[in-house]
Amino acid sequence: MQTNTEMLEQKRAEARLGGGQARIDKQHAKGKLTARERIALLLDPDSFEEWDMFVEHRCIDFDMEEHKIPGDGVVTGNGLINGRPVFVYSQDFTVFGGSLSETHAAKICKVMDQAIKLGLPVIGINDSGGARIQEGVASLGGYAEVFQRNVLASGVIPQISLIMGPCAGGAVYSPAITDFIFMVENSSYMFVTGPDVVKTVTHEDLTAAELGGAEMHAKTSGVSHGRFENDLELLVNTRRLMGFLPLSNAGPLPIIECDDPIDRQSETLANIVPENPNMPYDMKHVILEIVDDQEFFEIHADYAKNIIVGFARMNGMPIGIVANQPLVLAGCLDCNSSRKAARFVRFCDAFDISILTLVDVPGFMPGLAQETGGIISHGAKLLFAFAEATVPKVTLITRKAYGGAYDVMASKHLRGDVNYAWPNAEIAVMGPEGAARIIFRDASDNPELLEKKTQNYREKFVNPFVAASRGYLDDIIRPVNTRRRLVNAFEILKRKQLKNPPRKHDNLPL
Ligand code: HXC
Repeated sequence: MQTNTEMLEQKRAEARLGGGQARIDKQHAKGKLTARERIALLLDPDSFEEWDMFVEHRCIDFDMEEHKIPGDGVVTGNGLINGRPVFVYSQDFTVFGGSLSETHAAKICKVMDQAIKLGLPVIGINDSGGARIQEGVASLGGYAEVFQRNVLASGVIPQISLIMGPCAGGAVYSPAITDFIFMVENSSYMFVTGPDVVKTVTHEDLTAAELGGAEMHAKTSGVSHGRFENDLELLVNTRRLMGFLPLSNAGPLPIIECDDPIDRQSETLANIVPENPNMPYDMKHVILEIVDDQEFFEIHADYAKNIIVGFARMNGMPIGIVANQPLVLAGCLDCNSSRKAARFVRFCDAFDISILTLVDVPGFMPGLAQETGGIISHGAKLLFAFAEATVPKVTLITRKAYGGAYDVMASKHLRGDVNYAWPNAEIAVMGPEGAARIIFRDASDNPELLEKKTQNYREKFVNPFVAASRGYLDDIIRPVNTRRRLVNAFEILKRKQLKNPPRKHDNLPL
C-alpha cells in the first residue's frame, strides 16, 4: 500500500507536471516559459514557498469531475527578490488554458489577503483563457473577488501585473487596477473583446496583436507600462523594478550604499541646453548625469514621450522622476502626458517615494484635438496629483516654464519643497513673441518697434530672477553642481512630515 509520504510525492509530481508534457512542449514552442519556470526566474533561487499545491476544482458539470489537476491552473506562494519577500501567483496555461475557476480564484485571493495583512507586494503572472467556461457564474464571482482585493490593496502594497499570454474579457480589469503592467512582445495580448467579436460588431478585421498586443498597449493605449522581447527579459526587469519600491506604504524604502560621489560635477550639464531656445535636447541625458550610477528605470517609455517618468536613486535613496522631454512635441503637456505623469506621481506619493521634477515646458498643447480630448480634465489630473502629494518634492527648471504648465509642474505654489532653476531658465506667462503680439498690439504694423518691445519683454521677464526675487525659486544653481544640490535637498527633506486634511477620499477629476 502507498504510504502518505509516497502519495505526497506523487501528488507533488502531478502538480509540477501541470497539464502534461505535451502541453508544456506546446507552451515552449510558442516561446513561452511555464508558470513554474517563470516563478523560478522571478524569485531568488530556491526561495519559493508554494501554497495550495493540492487544491482542485469542485466542478461536476461537463464531466469535469474526471479532469482534475492538483493546483487547478495557478501556482501561488511567496519568495524573495534580492532577499526581500513578495507574494506571487502564476497562471498555468497548460491546465485548462490557465482559465480561472472558483478555486483558482480562491488561491489568488488567499495570497492577496496575506500580502495585504503582512504588507508585502503581489506580483501576478497572467496567462489565461479567462473565465473557466465550465464553471459559469462561479468563475465570474471569482474574478470579482480578485478585483475587490486589487482595489483594497491599491496604495497599500505594490501590485505588479505581468501579462505573459492571453488576458481577455473582464480578466483585463485586475491588471488594469494594479500599479504596473508589463507585457511580452508577440506572445501576450489584452483586450475587452477579442478579434472575432469585434469583427461581428464593428466589422473591423484585426489581429490579436493589432487589437491588444504589447506594442499597441505600450505605444498607443498606454495600458502597458513596459514591453519586453521575451519572458526572461520581462522577469529580469521586474526584479529590477522591485529594487526601487518599498514592500508596502508603511515603508521603509530600499536605500542602498551609494558609490557615486554625491558632489560629482558634470561639465556635460553646463553645455546641454542649446543657446537657441527653440532647439531641443534630450532630457534623458540630464537625468542620467544627475542620478546615481546613471541608472534610470523608465516607466511608460514608449507612451506620451513628451514626458518622462521613472525611478532612479539619489545617494542610494529611490526617487521618482517626472521630466518634460523637449525632444518630443517640445515637451509640452497634452492629454496623454498629463495622465501618464499624474498616475506616476500618485504612485510615488502613495508609497512615500520622493519626487524630482525636471521642467522644460513651453505650455499646454493647443488645438481642437486636445480640447475635444479633454485636456482640461487630464491636465487637472496632473495638477491635482502634484498638489495633493505630501512626499518631498524637489523641482529644477532647466529651461522653459511657461503659463499654466509652470504652475502644474510641481511649482512652489503646489507645495514644492525645494525649487531650483538653472541660470538661463525662462519663467513667464508666455513666450516673448506671443506676449509682445498681445500686449504691444499698437506696434503690430511696425516690425522694428515690435522687435524692440519683444526684446524689452525678453530681458525683463524671460529669466529666473523675477521668480527668485519673489521666493518662488529657492535658488538659481549652476548646472555643473546640480547633482550635489539635488542630493542635499533630498537629504534635508528626509525629515518632511506633511498630512492633508482628513476626508473620506479626494475627488480627482477622472
Ligand atoms: C476552460 C479553456 C478556456 C476557458 C482555453 N481553455 N480557454 N478551458 N475555460 N476559458 C482550454 C482549451 O479547451 C484547451 O484545452 C486549452 O485550454 C488550450 O486552449 P487552446 O484553445 O488549445 O489554446 P490556443 O489555441 O493557444 O488559444 C488560446 C485562447 C483560446 C485564445 C485563449 O483557448 C480561447 O479563445 N479560449 C476561450 C477564451 C474565452 O472566450 N474565455 C472566456 C472569456 S469571458 P485542451 O484540453 O485542448 O488543452 C471571460 C469573462 C471574465 O473571461 C469576466 C470577468 C469579470
